[in-house]
Amino acid sequence: MLDFAGNPCFSVAIVIHQNTRQKFACLDIKFPLNKTLPPMAEPKVNDLMERIVSLCKRRGFVFQSSEIYGGINGFWDYGPLGAELKRNVKDYWWRSMTQRRDDVAGLEATIIMHPQIWEASGHTSTFADPMVDCLLTKKRFRADQIDPQSGVVYHYSGAEGGGKKSEEPFSVILVPGKNPESARKVAKQFYQQRGIADAVLMGERTEKVENSTRYNSENGSLLTEPRLFNLMFKTYVGPVESAENVAYLRPETAQAIFAQFKNVMEVSRQKVPFGICQSGKAFRNEINPRNFTFRSREFEQMELEFFIRPDEAVEAICGGVAKPAGASHPGHPQPNWGWEMWHKYWVEERLAFYESIGLPRASLVEYWQKPEELAHYARATVDILYKFPFSKRNEAGELTGEELEGVAARSDFDLSQHQRFSGKAMTVFDEELKVAWGKLDEAKRNDLANRYYETRLKYLTKVGEPADKAEKQARENAQELGKGYYVPHVIEPSAGVDRLALALICNAYCEDQAPDEKGNMEGRVVMRFHPRIAPVKVAVFPLLKNKPELVKKALEVRDLLRPHMTVFYDEGGAIGRRYRRQDEAGTPFGVTIDFDTLGEQGAELKDTVTLRDRDTMKQTRIKISELLPRLLERIQ
Ligand code: GAP
Repeated sequence: MLDFAGNPCFSVAIVIHQNTRQKFACLDIKFPLNKTLPPMAEPKVNDLMERIVSLCKRRGFVFQSSEIYGGINGFWDYGPLGAELKRNVKDYWWRSMTQRRDDVAGLEATIIMHPQIWEASGHTSTFADPMVDCLLTKKRFRADQIDPQSGVVYHYSGAEGGGKKSEEPFSVILVPGKNPESARKVAKQFYQQRGIADAVLMGERTEKVENSTRYNSENGSLLTEPRLFNLMFKTYVGPVESAENVAYLRPETAQAIFAQFKNVMEVSRQKVPFGICQSGKAFRNEINPRNFTFRSREFEQMELEFFIRPDEAVEAICGGVAKPAGASHPGHPQPNWGWEMWHKYWVEERLAFYESIGLPRASLVEYWQKPEELAHYARATVDILYKFPFSKRNEAGELTGEELEGVAARSDFDLSQHQRFSGKAMTVFDEELKVAWGKLDEAKRNDLANRYYETRLKYLTKVGEPADKAEKQARENAQELGKGYYVPHVIEPSAGVDRLALALICNAYCEDQAPDEKGNMEGRVVMRFHPRIAPVKVAVFPLLKNKPELVKKALEVRDLLRPHMTVFYDEGGAIGRRYRRQDEAGTPFGVTIDFDTLGEQGAELKDTVTLRDRDTMKQTRIKISELLPRLLERIQ
């Protein structure tokens, strides 16, 4: 049987995920600590996420930040296993995005940057979510995340009592099956907060509503009108807290890449098409952090900006622009690729990346944003979703998935914005384009120049340049194209480290049966991490800790492996229990040093060990000299 993400699993799968969303929604701060698992045979269908969160705490994957002070909402710490997991994810991403490619260079920029960067990127003016407050509890919600409710709304024009009067209107929704008195009780609480004890409600009238998002689903109280709330964390640079010293913690790592585009291109001697990648912290003052680490206020991103020629330049050089044919990977990059091919290429590369670290294709969703969902400058965006246990379900009952990464074709918007705001040219010179342009006939030149002019004009007009200035600028840009100059377009695969770590944890989590010391089957929790990203790669066990020869040999094996991988040495407790501990940590391999290793059962077994596979629980005998290559083959 398969679990929700397609892993082989014990029969709890499939049903175990039902109804997790609502239950999990309240796990923001009070996740169950040290919760003991109910018997394996009777898993509750709605507590999978609770079990995962509990394991995260129990085994040291994730802790609540500042837990000893009651925690801080939206902030999480990674314990020993979580820190290794995250590091493996980031390292593997870095290796595959830059070290194993010739066309991508790395960057590590500061978190606080010049505030004008956020003006240019649009974050100061538009990086905001609509928020609403509960009129009764003052609790704040994201307006677009309010669950629609149907029922009867009780409206009041005010209340009076104890010689006081309030004419502030208030409303409360009563969902079917509830007593009208409960609506009145909520209304009285509202007026009591305004100083009217023993409130007598005034002007009660009722109204039927369908799917309204104007009310708090927790208590029925009316919410405020939506207001925009900027998500950037503000701070001050230097000792004076004045407007001119305002700075922001970066809400994404991408902007530093654009700001350093010219420097990186120059020093890395790259030519378009090429990319710059960076991973690091990002901060967003999310209105409603939720779903464990999924939506946090401090998190990490892994972003690539891949710069490409505008299609007009590709056409001038290659005589045409290749378009994706079919749904599969378009293969090795070619000079005649325009933005659509490059976009498709990166979507497929990223999907392959997720599969290569153990997320089955069936657990991922490739969601193409609809035209009305796209930012004005974006030509296409694909969200790569993972089917988390807390994801919503569609009408067919299937998990719809939550975003792990967005792969956006962002035109030349970002570099053009920084060019406008900084006054520094972000254009590149493309010798091939200049030469090719010289060989085009006039009709073709006019056609390409006109098309380029139109797209530049559209951009300049959209960002608010006056019509005459926009036209003049666009015309100059079209002329520059013919001389080999353009602002590169960009494809941006932008992923979240913490979301990926959570997806890997959810995907790895499995409950099955394993034999205990006496061969009786018992429930076990096993984290089936792909060996590439498993926090600990191998555990080394001497069979008995009170036999110095076994311990000595086991320490030798540990030291042999340690320079190449994370090794956990464990000599405490029965061997079965030690295996179980490593299963929960997700350690894919276990090496046991026993009396055969010492040659006590015959010379042919001397210097052999048992290698245990976490998933199959099979043990094979292998020479110590073969151990390292065998393990390296599996973890790289
Ligand atoms: N530069 C583009 C950009 O930042 P985004 O979709 O806002 O795009 C990219 O963020 C990725 O960062 C998301 O797909 C997600 O994985 C991660 N991310 C965004 N907000 C997050 C949050 N509050 N908590 C955890 N991860 C987040």
